Amino acid sequence: MRVGILTGGGDCPGLNAVIRAVVRKGIFHYEDQFVGYLEGWRGVLEDKTIPLDLHAVAGILPRGGTILRTSRTNPAKKEGGLQCCIDNLRHHQLDALIAVGGDDTQSIGLKLYNMGFPVVGIPKTIDNDLMGTDFCFGFDTAVTAATDAIDRVHTTAEAHNRVIVVEVMGRDSGWIALYSGIAGGADVILVPERPFDIDDVAELLRKRHARGRYFSIVVAAEGARFASELDADGSPIVQDLERDEFGHVRLGGIGNVLAREIERRTGFETRAVVLGYIQRGGSPTAFDRVLATRFGTTAIDLVHRQEFGKMVAVHGTEIVSIPLAEAINRTRLVGQDLIDVAIGLHEPLGDKNTEPLPLTNR
Ligand code: F6P
Repeated sequence: MRVGILTGGGDCPGLNAVIRAVVRKGIFHYEDQFVGYLEGWRGVLEDKTIPLDLHAVAGILPRGGTILRTSRTNPAKKEGGLQCCIDNLRHHQLDALIAVGGDDTQSIGLKLYNMGFPVVGIPKTIDNDLMGTDFCFGFDTAVTAATDAIDRVHTTAEAHNRVIVVEVMGRDSGWIALYSGIAGGADVILVPERPFDIDDVAELLRKRHARGRYFSIVVAAEGARFASELDADGSPIVQDLERDEFGHVRLGGIGNVLAREIERRTGFETRAVVLGYIQRGGSPTAFDRVLATRFGTTAIDLVHRQEFGKMVAVHGTEIVSIPLAEAINRTRLVGQDLIDVAIGLHEPLGDKNTEPLPLTNR
């Protein structure tokens, strides 16, 4: 078969491992030929391709980024864009397209499938918030980077008697914040799922310091929201109001706002660090390489079983396929069980919905 592949949306450690797995299994087991589309859906729209053979994927398994590069181009935003994509795919006599990406990328894949083009999806986001799969590759690498950063700021916070706020990625969900916060022993974890009261955060830190602790670590997802006067409409803090082609604003800045407000309320010297793209770059962990490889080999199997309009996913320890329609337009939020783990490690502040997720280093 002739199969196209693209990577869309924000990059993610493990994308190269996926490309390699698809191409190697396709060539060795099915005698497939591959066309690589450059820069996500932009490459399909503008017909920017590279040949993908065994040579092209040699040595890429441990590399971050994506040899196909990526973009947040949305063909549905261009007049006739979707039909143009289909025409360009057919021009290359492709039998199928494998789209590796998150909610936005998969939503275009589903549109093309509904217009008659055979598409298989592979889930990708470091935020781990895609519906239908327990994990996305890239998440484990992001959590590992964030946990390492938390460990590092711990020692400097302790040396200086400071509170340090670590801002991590997580637009609509707090998976990275919660996992890295638990793994790094953070004292307060703030996630988009639970708007927090800044006075509760301050009280929690004051109580901890009253017990004799002289430093604290706060981990905040970039999309965490104040439930108080600072942001009365409950929106996250943004860097820029301009929207990308899928309608997303650029989040960021909550770390510095939190640091200022914590210091003002408690008198504790407070600093902030924004991890940003450090979480997205670099070599994937072994877990992500294996997950990406399993997704890639299963996706090419789906193509040959003609199971189109589907996305590969992991349920428990098993790789499965689900309808693309089940994956998109909804956010997979952190589970109450994980929130309870964080809350369980701390004496309760009260049972208000706005209570931050506390953890203590006892
Ligand atoms: O892909 C998810 C994500 O990492 C979000 O957590 C973050 O808000 C966004 O990407 C930033 O993407 P970019 O600045 O590359 O558009």
